[in-house]
Amino acid sequence: KKVVLAYSGGLDTSIIIPWLKENYGYEVIAMVADVGQGEELAPLREKATKSGASKIYIEDVKREFVEDFIFPTLKAGAIYEGKYLLGTSFARPLIAKKLVEIAEKEGAEAVAHGATGKGNDQVRFELTVKALNPDLKIIAPWREWNIRSREQAIDYARERGIPVPVTKEHPYSMDRNLWHLSHEGGDLEDPWNEPKRHVYLIITPPEEAPDRPEYVEIEFEKGVPVKVNGKEYDPVALVEYLNEVAAANGVGIIDMVENRLVGMKSRGVYECPGGTVLFLAHRELESITLDRETMHFKQKVAVKYAQLVYDGMWYTPLKEALDAFVDSTQQTVTGTVRMKLYKGNCTPAGVKSPYSLYREDFATFGADEVYNQKDAEGFINLLGLPLKVRAMMRKENQEA
Ligand code: ARG
Ligand code: SIN
Repeated sequence: KKVVLAYSGGLDTSIIIPWLKENYGYEVIAMVADVGQGEELAPLREKATKSGASKIYIEDVKREFVEDFIFPTLKAGAIYEGKYLLGTSFARPLIAKKLVEIAEKEGAEAVAHGATGKGNDQVRFELTVKALNPDLKIIAPWREWNIRSREQAIDYARERGIPVPVTKEHPYSMDRNLWHLSHEGGDLEDPWNEPKRHVYLIITPPEEAPDRPEYVEIEFEKGVPVKVNGKEYDPVALVEYLNEVAAANGVGIIDMVENRLVGMKSRGVYECPGGTVLFLAHRELESITLDRETMHFKQKVAVKYAQLVYDGMWYTPLKEALDAFVDSTQQTVTGTVRMKLYKGNCTPAGVKSPYSLYREDFATFGADEVYNQKDAEGFINLLGLPLKVRAMMRKENQEA
């Protein structure tokens, strides 16, 4: 009997290997998805074997991550509770998808993950597995075992001869990929505490960023970024490049208290440099390429889309239907946006598109030939009719 485990090489997922063998009698196959966590993954082969795995798969899914998860969410303009760019949320369905693929290939009867019973991640992993292969059993050791602290986990590992990471413990729970790095726990659990300097591992804090602005020009095709400063990039390289430029200028720090799906509020600090620039640039391009009604409706869709992604509902009929709507809106979202990055700020500094609906000849405060100001009078009369009738009614009742 086999189980495929979403493995990271950290202490938690390392002890899950012997735990699965002892408690379920499984042969354990480890799976690492390379979503751009920026660590060397090759050493994990030996580590997994030493921890008792029979085999390890290291899957480079960076391109799939950007093309099939990041860009669709960017096109939707989805942002959770007005702040969170969903970096962890949309990585989970991809990792779970790979777990399912490998489980099928290996003829495994179960998959396992190292998410706790208090978080969102367990939901995202498991909903995806259920949606993609209803026959697979799902094991979440954190919901079953009695290990409650890092010390207990270290003891458990030592007793079984599992290598314990010597690196001194970073006080935060982190999750890193191409899109973002999240920090939770430790002193951040009190929302009154400002994040300390050492929290930031990617972004130069705004006060330390250069004293002169840096400009980037991003070119989009149908809502998807394809070039930066006139140079073509493949999707992964494009995100990596923007991460670098934005991080150097202090852009992309998000500090929030969010509502978890499982009920409690939690405080998170996110570093999302390139994502912040892309999100703002994309929105700017839509300001000239989408008509008013479509744009306003799309804003509502974005709220729902973000909630679906946050809640792990990636592989659902509604999410697919919303993708179809979003794609339809993106047909003319082609053009170039210039963004100015300066000490943590990211502001638009120019936008153009061959599909622009912005017409200077209509909008101008100067003389124009196309707009008849007299038309506005009748328009306002009809628009104001219900207001006028209500006011008349009130007045009559006062007099009566
Ligand atoms: N709160 C964020 C979310 O729910 C980040 C979660 C980070 N996960 C982690 N295992 N450290 O998407
Ligand atoms: C976890 O509990 O594994 C991390 C936090 C989360 O999933 O929200």
